[in-house]
This record gives sequence, structure tokens and C-alpha cells, in this order.
Amino acid sequence: MASHVVASVAEFPPGSRKLVEVEGRRIAVFNVRGEYFALNDRCPHEGGSLCAGKLSGLVVAKEPGAYEWTRDGEIIRCPWHGWEFDLRTGRSQCDPRTMRVRRYDVHVEHGSDLAEELQAETFPVKIENDYVIVDV
Ligand code: FES
Repeated sequence: MASHVVASVAEFPPGSRKLVEVEGRRIAVFNVRGEYFALNDRCPHEGGSLCAGKLSGLVVAKEPGAYEWTRDGEIIRCPWHGWEFDLRTGRSQCDPRTMRVRRYDVHVEHGSDLAEELQAETFPVKIENDYVIVDV
């Protein structure tokens, strides 16, 4: 598994989302209150873009009549037919055992730690008798 830089933290504030393409895969990345989540953008139902969906939460009840709103912004609702997926697990809310969308790990690294990864590949060059030689 390879890591890929997809955005700077400065251009990706809490409450925002970004659709990125990595190795041919469309991945929806979400910043929920400073915590990052990434899911395959393609809804497993009929292919709707999860990045274009609405973020929601869950209503739970410990007993009849005692409802509580939880996990605000951690559930993505597909814009096409409303299937919902947990950003933390990728699992469907209605059938979590069998239906899910692929999730990806996301982390933040300081720019100085990425300095070597962000450099262009270089090769030594020398001139011998009027020929330019690139060593690869
Ligand atoms: S395509 Fe996502 S719910 Fe139908």
C-alpha cells in the first residue's frame, strides 16, 4: 500500500470534502471537525457519487421516547437513492454485515516529514567529450 499526498491541511478545512483520484480510483475525502475520513466515491447500489452526498448523523434511543442525536456529520447519504454509510467503517446503516463501501486510512504528516517524498526524482549528469550522459 502506497501513501499519496491529496491536499494540504490549509486547503481542506473542517466541514469540507474533496474528490481525489488515486491510482485510477475516485476517493471521497471528508474533514469532519478536524478528523479525516476517506471512502470509495462509488456507491455500491448503482454508482452514485458519495462525495456529492449529504452528511448526517444517527438518532439512537436507549428507551422508548428517549431519542438522542449522535455522530453528527459521520454518516454520508448517497444523493441518488439515499443509502447511508458510516464514514468510520464504510458499512451501510441498513445492512452493515453485508453492504459496505471501501474505506481508506487517512493521516496528516508535517511537510518537513514529506520533503523527500515530494522531491522530483533526479539523476546525475556529466559531460564527456561533448556528449551529454544521463545515468539512470
Ligand atoms: S446509487 Fe447510491 S443509493 Fe442508489
